[in-house]
Amino acid sequence: MKNLFIYYSLTGSGDKVAEELKKQGYEIRKVKSKVKYPKSLFPLMMKGGHRALTNKKDDLEDFDTNLKGYDKIVIGSPVWDDRLAPATNALLDKLDLKGKNVSFILYSGSGQAQKATEKIQELFGKEPIILKAPKKHPQELAKLKDF
Ligand SMILES: Cc1cc2nc3c(=O)[nH]c(=O)nc-3n(C[C@H](O)[C@H](O)[C@H](O)COP(=O)(O)O)c2cc1C
Repeated sequence: MKNLFIYYSLTGSGDKVAEELKKQGYEIRKVKSKVKYPKSLFPLMMKGGHRALTNKKDDLEDFDTNLKGYDKIVIGSPVWDDRLAPATNALLDKLDLKGKNVSFILYSGSGQAQKATEKIQELFGKEPIILKAPKKHPQELAKLKDF
């Protein structure tokens, strides 16, 4: 099995997921946003939350979009304003996922992500796995065993 985890992370929870999946043999690809997000929490929540609410797509740094030969592709995203992060919106735009075996792992502060789940259901007909901020709650990574 050749599996790929392709993800965005601003504050490190996604990186914890990547470490866990790497142990399970996944190849890892991290995408980076060119958008400058504020470091302090309130301005970050305002800017990031608004961009997510309005379904914006971040400009991404160049990354490898080739998905040939993978049995499974897992996309990882933080949840912003209950939705996918704007970098993930851009990632979905850039990847050709037609006919691929795609799953989602979301990481959110609350462990909830209703709007993001609805979008994934609509686009891929699947439920995501939702982890509660695994950087702060590493025990959440147990949900990825035998994923
Ligand atoms: C702009 C912004 C908006 C957020 N909105 C939500 C939200 O609506 N619901 C929630 O549970 N967590 C929310 N969070 C918390 C993140 O989803 C959570 O910290 C996640 O683990 C971050 O992943 P990362 O560290 O890989 O970037 C938000 C965080 C940011 C920065």
